[in-house]
Amino acid sequence: MADLPSGFWAGWIAVVTLVSLAAVAWLTYSLYFQSDDSEEIADEPVWDGDLREGNKAPPMWWFWLIFAAMIFTLVYMMLYPGLGSYEGILNWSQGSRIAEAYENFDENFAEARNAAAGMSLAEMQNDLQLMDTAERLFARECAACHGPEGRGQASLFPNLHDIDWQWGSTPEQIEQTIRGGRNAQMIAWGDILGEQGVSQVAEYVQTLSQTPSESHPGRAAYQQYCVACHMPDGSGNPMLGAPRLSDDIWLYGGDLDTIKDTLTFGRFGVMPAFGERLDDLQIKLLVALLVR
Ligand code: HEC
Ligand code: HEC
Repeated sequence: MADLPSGFWAGWIAVVTLVSLAAVAWLTYSLYFQSDDSEEIADEPVWDGDLREGNKAPPMWWFWLIFAAMIFTLVYMMLYPGLGSYEGILNWSQGSRIAEAYENFDENFAEARNAAAGMSLAEMQNDLQLMDTAERLFARECAACHGPEGRGQASLFPNLHDIDWQWGSTPEQIEQTIRGGRNAQMIAWGDILGEQGVSQVAEYVQTLSQTPSESHPGRAAYQQYCVACHMPDGSGNPMLGAPRLSDDIWLYGGDLDTIKDTLTFGRFGVMPAFGERLDDLQIKLLVALLVR
């Protein structure tokens, strides 16, 4: 009731409720307890000896039913919010119910949470129940992008179970990825390299997973523009989120056309930050789930 626009409407609802109640009470009273003093009409039809039209109250148990319902209504209105903005003796509200549930939740799980917070990652990984919780958390928060089992999706969302970690594989790095998010910046090289340059460098990038030839036409440009982030041998740099290009594991794709697209237009993958959304224990659980 608190969200009604003004005190007037709350009062109006209270008046309507009370007047309706009084009207029902009066109707019931007049039906059962006011003597029917209407004159008998001479040629009125009579059934079963004394049954005439309009002179019989319904059976008494109806009265008691209505009476009980009215008592219940009055008691209910005194205890619970139902009359305008009156809050009721019990001070019940949906909001207070939720707050109560939260309090109970904290109480019920405080022990388990404290125990888990003190565990090492390895201990967590050995606790099947905790890992179950972690998997459910992953399904709820992460699977929409990383796929139901974290195996990656759509050449946009990395597989979290391969050996290739763009932003680093230590617990600290993974925690940082989840807590703070990551913004990958691979600028577009199309204008700098030109179409032919892009093709040559893309072909050179493909050879990084084998033995790249020193005399490859794309090598010079790679050495000039790419090594700062991807390193001369293509091993990448987790500080910058620059992926390893020498392992034949690709986020966006390792075929020539896709690499050319990557170079021409750039890539700007965003992993959202979960530091506000998840608490420390939840983040730790996810790290335990992902780290090896
Ligand atoms: C400023 C650092 C930086 C420079 C310089 C840079 N890259 Fe990148 N590169 C990145 C980052 C960061 C990503 C990841 C982008 C993402 O995840 O959205 C990336 C992604 C890529 C990918 C996609 C890999 C995959 O798994 O699909 C390729 C290919 C690539 N870079 C090649 C190059 C080449 C070739 C050059 C030089 C012309 C170059 N990069 C220069 C930072 C850089
Ligand atoms: C809105 C989509 C989205 C959601 C939701 C999401 N991620 Fe990501 N995540 C990404 C993208 C995109 C990247 C790759 C960023 C890049 O290109 O560098 C990424 C990267 C990562 C990485 C880095 C992988 C590496 O190779 O270093 C980890 C770890 C990760 N996510 C974990 C999680 C976890 C855990 C959750 C759930 C709490 C989650 N992500 C939820 C989109 C998402």
